[in-house]
Amino acid sequence: MVTVRCCVLVCALQTVTGTLALSVFTAVLGSFQFGYNIGVINAPQKVRPTCTHQPELLIQSSANWDLEFPIDPIPSSTLTTLWSLSVAIFSIGGMISSFCVGVISEWLGRRKAMLINNLFAFIGGGLMGMAKISRSFEMMILGRFVIGAYCGLASGLVPMYVGEIAPTSLRGALGTLHQLAIVTGILMAQVLGLESLLGSEELWPVLVGVTVLPTVLQMVLLPFCPESPRFLYIIRSQEHHAKSGLRRLTGRQEVGDMLAEMKEEKRRMDMERKVSIAELFRSPMYRQPIIIAILLQLSQQLSGVNAIFYYSTSIFQKAGVQSPVYATIGAGVVNCAFTVVSLFLVERTGRRTLHMLGLSGMCGCAIVMTMALALLDSVPWMSYISMLAIFGFVAFFEVGPGPIPWFFVAELFSQGPRPAAMAVAGFANWTANFVIGFGFQYVAELCGPYVFLIFAALLLFFLIFTFFRVPETRGKTFDQISNTFSKHSPAMIDMDLDMELGKHSTELDYLGEEGS
Ligand code: GLC
Repeated sequence: MVTVRCCVLVCALQTVTGTLALSVFTAVLGSFQFGYNIGVINAPQKVRPTCTHQPELLIQSSANWDLEFPIDPIPSSTLTTLWSLSVAIFSIGGMISSFCVGVISEWLGRRKAMLINNLFAFIGGGLMGMAKISRSFEMMILGRFVIGAYCGLASGLVPMYVGEIAPTSLRGALGTLHQLAIVTGILMAQVLGLESLLGSEELWPVLVGVTVLPTVLQMVLLPFCPESPRFLYIIRSQEHHAKSGLRRLTGRQEVGDMLAEMKEEKRRMDMERKVSIAELFRSPMYRQPIIIAILLQLSQQLSGVNAIFYYSTSIFQKAGVQSPVYATIGAGVVNCAFTVVSLFLVERTGRRTLHMLGLSGMCGCAIVMTMALALLDSVPWMSYISMLAIFGFVAFFEVGPGPIPWFFVAELFSQGPRPAAMAVAGFANWTANFVIGFGFQYVAELCGPYVFLIFAALLLFFLIFTFFRVPETRGKTFDQISNTFSKHSPAMIDMDLDMELGKHSTELDYLGEEGS
């Protein structure tokens, strides 16, 4: 009887209503902004390219704006520091705010949290857009910090909201739209960053300030989107509001079956104790999955992909590519295309296999890139090989290490420890993002053409780790996944027993309700 009901439920949920499409679109405008602000910092690096060794930087022109008081040009090392800081402070903003996603989303609700988060986008975009007029590179750096804080919150709130409003059968596909919107944002920033569009010395303030436009759109549309019914019912116990949200999202009047499913989730959640961050590391039950979650996030960031997305213009320049800005756009196109490929492969091939495929492909491309860069002086056509290697590097990234770590963390944990685990994983991701954003230029100056060998070594390490430690989660329930980690944990056996009892009593309640 339950099976039949489940089938009916799955079939019914397959319809994407206008409200569902609108809500997902509105939410991923946040992911789009996240991507835009990753990509946007790349093009202005090269405003007025006059110097071969050290590209003239946006920050350089801004630091020398005060022409009424001619000052000594800022030394190149200080410029590198200022520029690296304005790139990396974005991740500091993200690090701080991503840690607060759990608390904020429970306090305000998912929709209101997204709405209020837009304040950060306004302030950040405004500061960056006005930096030139105000002749203050400090405003630029502060603006990057604030927009980073926006992105940190968006990177948690968007997948959470989309995952909660998506019908079970479409949760994976709709969830991947988060990464797709990120890569589209990166590409859009790269295109608008062309010197003939907004990447010129006069127009770059518009390029960095235009980020407020999707913010306005999101603020206009959010009031038309329902709050997550799961949040309303499971966290706030507002059955009536949850019901009306479900009706709008599904286009159905009868939503009792979905409420019953949520009721079970609530019951399970009430049974699991809330897990603190410290406990994630102390308890033998959670230690292994949290280490896997952290290492997967590190494999995403320490793969070096953001070295490409933050600094590709200068990387392509050093690789002898004729039009580095167009090559950067090429990388953005490859990035988008392969995210779509991953979307179709992930449920067929499995997460573990795709992740390993991505890591090994990236490792191979990093080695080819290093060889090509090292031979560049003696063999001029090596610039093409290095460009192809960079494209391959990005393509393999989007096959696995790009999209998989975010949703994999949620799969590794059940309802109780999930918020704490997501905060730890998000923090690890943004911290590593910061390390790359700040450190890459220095290490690249030190290592010259051999810099990507460091990433090759790290990728190899993550590949070996994934092979030996990361389980496949495709097609498994949360219970089955946590059982893989806790077969010998007495605490888990007790909990399993509780859950089983809880499940039976839920089923009985459910049947009782049906009967009455
Ligand atoms: C992922 C990463 C982000 C990276 C992007 C590249 O979303 O979290 O840091 O820039 O992929 O596509």
